Amino acid sequence: MSLLSKRHFLRLLDFTPSEISSLLKLSAELKAAKKNGTEKASLQGKNIALIFEKDSTRTRCSFEVAAYDQGAKVTYLGPSGSQIGHKESMKDTARVLGRMYDGIQYRGYGQDKVEILAHYAGVPVWNGLTNEFHPTQLLADLLTMQEHLPGQPLKGMRLAYLGDTRNNMGNSLLEAAALCGLDLRLVAPSACWPEAELVATCEHLAKENGGSITLTEDIATGVKDADFLYTDVWVSMGEPKEVWKERINLLRPYQVNSAMLALTGNPQVKFLHCLPAFHDDQTTLGKQMAEEYGLHGGMEVTDDVFESRHSVVFDQAENRLHTIKAVMVATLANH
Ligand code: CP
Ligand code: NVA
Repeated sequence: MSLLSKRHFLRLLDFTPSEISSLLKLSAELKAAKKNGTEKASLQGKNIALIFEKDSTRTRCSFEVAAYDQGAKVTYLGPSGSQIGHKESMKDTARVLGRMYDGIQYRGYGQDKVEILAHYAGVPVWNGLTNEFHPTQLLADLLTMQEHLPGQPLKGMRLAYLGDTRNNMGNSLLEAAALCGLDLRLVAPSACWPEAELVATCEHLAKENGGSITLTEDIATGVKDADFLYTDVWVSMGEPKEVWKERINLLRPYQVNSAMLALTGNPQVKFLHCLPAFHDDQTTLGKQMAEEYGLHGGMEVTDDVFESRHSVVFDQAENRLHTIKAVMVATLANH
């Protein structure tokens, strides 16, 4: 029987602290096995559906490569080209795909959608990002944190998340802090803080698990002694274009730059970002925003920080593969 046999992976709070720590251990083992050439394919004969109602690079590629490494086959269903949403409800889609596939990944809008899918599919469903949560990203983040502070428990690691803390990353970081006992600081204007109810639930759990959660507008307090600074885009996929102006005005002081790194007082502080990041003018949207709002050299993070020795963002990106593989193996493998 596998670790989390037949379970869904919809949000972190569906799991116990020890289940999360087992998933991280399995991720590290699968990573080592792939690097050593000793990986065993435990998903042979499995078929996996990948539903993407929003774009993706890391999540899609991680699910696909992880499936191939483990001997499974995948079908990609993109934002257009299937009946999902336009002509067929999620409830019906779930019952159709559940007859054909052994597991389903969903990236899209409301968390209610992935919950309906999970309720009706009859096979494990994995959340590859909704407006509310991005749980597989957090597994990669936690694994990266463990790797960069080897020998230290996650409990008590100091992580400051700056910027739009009211988004899927803010919510998922709260849940991770609650389960793993992180010392999490959400550093943002109060208009960008997460829902009070989720904060209260996570504060309570974090305390039980030896951690703490602080919400503050004050940057110096929030980043003091941080082991990790984390940020994400200021406007997430699916948000209307109109919010850019207000968000940029609110969050400009919370940009991660070299002055902020110095403010931590920790010369070894590491920089995390789930990616994609607006750190230069090399993308069409980044270029447009930089010109419109005078943000050359980066938006939520400056290019010099992104490219510095502090940045571990590509370790994080690679760990998406190993952690997503662990989720599929834990919920689907026959052994
Ligand atoms: N971090 C992340 O989920 O990246 P993608 O949008 O490229 O999947
Ligand atoms: N908050 C971002 C995360 C991207 C991985 C978004 O939802 O667009």
